[in-house]
Amino acid sequence: MGNINASVDLRRDGEIAVVTVDNPPVNALKHEVRAGLAEALRQARDDATVKAVVIACAGRTFFAGADITEFGKPPQAPGLGEVIAAIEAMPKPVVAALHGTALGGGFELALACHFRVAVAGARVGLPEVKLGLLPGAGGTQRLPRLIGPEKALKMIVTGDPIEAPEALTDGIVDEIVEGDLTTGTIAFARRVAAENRPLRLVRDREDKLSAEGFADAAEALTRRLRGREAPAACVEAVRNAIVLPFEEGLKREGELFRKLVAGDQSKAQRHVFFAEREAARVPGIPEGAKPRPIARGAVIGAGTMGGGIAMCFANAGIPVSIVETGRDLLQKGLDRVAANYRATVSRGGLGAEEVERRMALINGVTELDAVGSADVVIEAVFEEMELKKRVFGDLDRVAKANAVLATNTSTLDVDEIARATSRPRDVLGTHFFSPANVMRLLEIVRGAATSPDALITAVTLGRRLGKVPVTVGVCYGFVGNRMLARRSVEAERLLLEGALPQQVDAAVTGFGFPMGPFAMADMAGLDVGWRIRNGRGERNEIEDALCEAGHFGQKTGKGYFRYDAGSRTPLPDPEVEQTILDASSRAGITRRAITQEEIVERMIFPMVNEGARILEEGIATRPGDIDVIWVYGYGWPVWRGGPMYYADQLGLAHLRDRLTLYAERSGDETLRPATRISRLAAEGRGFASSAPA
Ligand SMILES: NC(=O)c1ccc[n+]([C@@H]2O[C@H](COP(=O)([O-])OP(=O)(O)OC[C@H]3O[C@@H](n4cnc5c(N)ncnc54)[C@H](O)[C@@H]3O)[C@@H](O)[C@H]2O)c1
Repeated sequence: MGNINASVDLRRDGEIAVVTVDNPPVNALKHEVRAGLAEALRQARDDATVKAVVIACAGRTFFAGADITEFGKPPQAPGLGEVIAAIEAMPKPVVAALHGTALGGGFELALACHFRVAVAGARVGLPEVKLGLLPGAGGTQRLPRLIGPEKALKMIVTGDPIEAPEALTDGIVDEIVEGDLTTGTIAFARRVAAENRPLRLVRDREDKLSAEGFADAAEALTRRLRGREAPAACVEAVRNAIVLPFEEGLKREGELFRKLVAGDQSKAQRHVFFAEREAARVPGIPEGAKPRPIARGAVIGAGTMGGGIAMCFANAGIPVSIVETGRDLLQKGLDRVAANYRATVSRGGLGAEEVERRMALINGVTELDAVGSADVVIEAVFEEMELKKRVFGDLDRVAKANAVLATNTSTLDVDEIARATSRPRDVLGTHFFSPANVMRLLEIVRGAATSPDALITAVTLGRRLGKVPVTVGVCYGFVGNRMLARRSVEAERLLLEGALPQQVDAAVTGFGFPMGPFAMADMAGLDVGWRIRNGRGERNEIEDALCEAGHFGQKTGKGYFRYDAGSRTPLPDPEVEQTILDASSRAGITRRAITQEEIVERMIFPMVNEGARILEEGIATRPGDIDVIWVYGYGWPVWRGGPMYYADQLGLAHLRDRLTLYAERSGDETLRPATRISRLAAEGRGFASSAPA
């Protein structure tokens, strides 16, 4: 392949020049590709016998975007802007042939072509905002001209792609081809050349550039994105498309892009992007280990988690059995799944037919024998060790050889569960987060005996289920909940010392979390922990007093906050305030005013400290893995890059000093900086610099 260079090929089909790019896996627009495109376009332009040009990609997709490893490095000519200029300067029709995902710079290149043709399964979009950027190759100026500013803004601010049929309706795509795409596109190019169709560039269109509805749309789309630079810049750029001439709008777009790409938020988001890819690489897997094929799954327990996990399988098109102890419980579980799906339909997320297809993939049973045909079994019964061991002992008898046996436990020792079977090498943890069908994070818990191929089977399955799998080791709470527990201790302490729930939550949401710890506790329900503590003879001064007064959280309309009937909005509650004041005085504490800054530090630093210990113990492989866990499982603001990345930005010496101060003030020795923090701080390094390659 490639008579222009290793990535780009130019051939003739009669009077049509066909430029084909092949840069696996996703045809990123790296320098060689841009150079090859520029040269191919030059040759096609100078050849008078060429009547039209087709730009197509080999492999699984049209250009899926820029090569993001080039971001932040000195640009190498030709830039994408120059390739796009060469397309627009072409005196003959240029037609883009879209398949797979035409994203980012790839879609921007297509927008500069005179025509776009796609296969029905293609998707187009501008996901730059997800990396804290905006489309920097004219996307914010051309797309509004093609489909109107309101719709363009939605695509640019959400970053979500649209499907080819919708793109056809919107006028983004001129034709959808059946059969072979390149053949169809060549035929299309031949037709437009023969008909001498006028070559109208998107940049010259003005008819859809109306400001109507734009301000409202901008407000609605960015309401929940306060503090984020990229969405605000997207709005500004698209507004420029309405009010400024094309060239000026383009110039402003470039300036905004350069500012974002050099800014802290985009750097943090790019860190998360790379960390996510890195997390999929599990250390200690021998070369040649292959994931086992998964054609069918089984879930044990049709409760909150079991139902959600079964939905994940069905959503991925994998048939799944769900096992309960009795008919009624099973029916209840299946009804809840159906209700979840119905809610998706009513929100317009799915068609009723599609839901039926997915429900049909879920087979409810009350006999464990039914798991005999499953390639993977996920246990989601009550959180009780003896029960789990019994279930795994039974699974050992009925599951087929080589099936992966997984537990969804949140706290229990996976190794002990594995020992209840004769095949601990097939056993591991798959820790889903609630709601399991929605939350992206999947902690995969590697037991002492878990075999490499069972492990990569779970990782591969996780990705098939649309999750972000991160492999962790066995310990209480694994990575995410173990760190979260530190925050809970500190949150309670803050209340006793002088803060109120609304202040703590405001500091945490002000930092960028979607929810504060107390609103979250109210949502989850306070009574579960209370019952567990009662059973163990433990006490939590404030929370137990609240539970004793019937404050169980949202479900009783009152918890750390009060809730108006039918509302989920947390409101400050004077009764809770009194309970807290009483608890402080019982504990002999003189309450003081606590600054927002201190609250944020105490909500974050003890967690990072625990993260450092988790790294020391090898429970997590890399600091980036912990960042991914917090972004995808706990609502950590992605533009702050995750807790370990954030700590690195602050500097570990600062963290060490503050943790020392808080340890001394509270007398809580667990707040002392972890060895790793002290050592790295002394060396002037951060977590990232100490990560294994
Ligand atoms: N709820 C969460 O937020 C969450 C999050 C992560 C992990 N987990 C873990 O997931 C597991 C399930 O939690 P849940 O919240 O779904 O509990 P749940 O109480 O909602 O559901 C458990 C279900 O298991 C069924 N069950 C019990 N014994 C069984 C058996 N022998 N065979 C088949 N079914 C049986 C019960 O009838 C019940 O329907 C627990 O280990 C829990 O720690 C829960």
